[in-house]
Amino acid sequence: MHQRLAILTSGGDAPGMNAALRAATLGAIQRGWTVIGVQHGYKGLIEADFRQLDPEDVSHLVREGGTILGSARCLEFHERAGRDVARQRLAEARIESLLVIGGNGSLTGANRLAAPEELGEQVLNVIGVPASIDNDVGLTSMAIGVDTAMNTIVEACDKITDTASAHDRTFVVEVMGRDCGYLAMATSVAAGAQVVLFRESGKDPAELVAEVAGAVKAAQQRDDRHVLVIKAEGVNLENSELRRIVEEQCGAEVRITVLGHVVRGGRPSAFDRLMASRLGYVAARAAMAGETRQMIAWTPPRIVLPDTARRSELDPRCWLVPLDEMLAETRRVLDGTSPVAQWRVKVFDEIEDVLRL
Ligand code: F6P
Repeated sequence: MHQRLAILTSGGDAPGMNAALRAATLGAIQRGWTVIGVQHGYKGLIEADFRQLDPEDVSHLVREGGTILGSARCLEFHERAGRDVARQRLAEARIESLLVIGGNGSLTGANRLAAPEELGEQVLNVIGVPASIDNDVGLTSMAIGVDTAMNTIVEACDKITDTASAHDRTFVVEVMGRDCGYLAMATSVAAGAQVVLFRESGKDPAELVAEVAGAVKAAQQRDDRHVLVIKAEGVNLENSELRRIVEEQCGAEVRITVLGHVVRGGRPSAFDRLMASRLGYVAARAAMAGETRQMIAWTPPRIVLPDTARRSELDPRCWLVPLDEMLAETRRVLDGTSPVAQWRVKVFDEIEDVLRL
């Protein structure tokens, strides 16, 4: 039988998704497979919104942000009935292999789609590729889009620092990351922020405000009196409230910039293009080799690597990790019990005074 590989992108788009799609498509076509693009994520799977992808559809994609397939968050797919329809659509289209490029929610869906208890007799090999600017996917050191998002944030902070310094102001820059403060933490170092606020620190709103006020008071003793605060989206503290209290307590001028979806867009960085291409290619080859319910991870952190993880024979940076183990580690990252999450918090406990110097 002529073999067919379907590919979809799902959840929040991330720069580099297209590069992964391109590498997977070209790799599969080169080995004689037909590649089917599923439009708009799991919604498109349920609606059989399929189109064949030829080399000319993807060859120019390495530099394009967003995803040419479109993405969606699909509530129907959370239900068994929705997944049954999706499996039926795949069977009707004679597709036995599927790549899912997306974050936690999307990879949870991928794992359920290929679960033996739901599949029955149907053959379906599903492989995940981590893509989420939040870097909240377990068992991979990076997900597609994180590096580009960090570069976007750092560039914005550099610009804000110019105006903050001209006016001796305090700027609070809010960055995406609903459940995970990685982007805020990493960019606080890279952008030279004096304070970083993230949910995982476990601090209450009053402590967070005190931290900002402390940095502002310390800056008032210096010649260069501007302060840059990076705040993760998931922090439970209203920006307007933070501004009001710090202005009252310190007599400082505070401005707020919410970067929002700007952080998710733009051309992927060189690193994201390269990593996405390597992950996409290894993922296609894994699906074509009959692997299933695996995610292709990028240099997984050793401290949490399960025995079941296998290094790819095609690429020394890529590992095959079982989707269910990855999802369990993701839960630990988000609830703070993972050694990776604990290490991140510990680092910032140690350096928060250093940032302010
Ligand atoms: O998961 C990625 C992410 O960009 C989060 O950082 C953010 O909270 C969320 O998606 C925004 O989702 P939406 O685009 O649906 O508003």
